[in-house]
Amino acid sequence: MRRRIAETTVAYPWVVCDRDGVVTGYAYATQHRTRAAYQWCVETSVYVHPDFRHSGIARGLYTSLFAILAAQGFVNAYAGITLPNARSVALHEKLGFLPLTVYRGIGFKAGAWHDVGWWHLVVSPHPEFPLPPMPLADLQRDPQWEALLSAGISLIRSGHS
Ligand SMILES: CC(C)(COP(=O)(O)OP(=O)(O)OC[C@H]1O[C@@H](n2cnc3c(N)ncnc32)[C@H](O)[C@@H]1OP(=O)(O)O)[C@@H](O)C(=O)NCCC(=O)NCCS
Repeated sequence: MRRRIAETTVAYPWVVCDRDGVVTGYAYATQHRTRAAYQWCVETSVYVHPDFRHSGIARGLYTSLFAILAAQGFVNAYAGITLPNARSVALHEKLGFLPLTVYRGIGFKAGAWHDVGWWHLVVSPHPEFPLPPMPLADLQRDPQWEALLSAGISLIRSGHS
């Protein structure tokens, strides 16, 4: 996990919710495809500890994540959800993701083949002449960094589920 985070955060954000020293959830973006034409696209995912669900943590984490991605210049986010997962589908659609399609039997895990549904969110408007996305380290030196990182904090309610 440590290595995955280190490799991911060279280019893409990985935000963590910490409550009194306990990691309650995280959200991150990764590369969508390696070809240059897709450099403005990311895949995103979010996970919240079972004891801390239903208190807006996923919404808060994703709000900060998308604020950072938009500031970097990313345009499209895609979420692949192993089906069925009603909670994750509800979360993504509530945050504006629209369904694209389902890849049937694409992944083998825990002794079975699984379908993965794909959802899409426009993170920022498609520019006519896009510049390459800003490296994360450059944005972290920008005065707006703290505000972007904390964009979702006010959406997180206190308390356990
Ligand atoms: C899906 C998951 C991230 C939601 O986290 P969460 O912190 O409980 O979600 P939030 O409290 O921020 O909820 C935000 C919105 O998501 C939707 N949602 C979340 N949990 C839901 C549930 N159990 N049933 C229906 N809708 C739900 C609601 O629309 C909710 O908005 P509301 O509070 O205004 O009703 C969490 O259940 C989880 O980690 N699941 C396991 C991992 C996973 O499936 N991750 C997604 C992989 S793509």
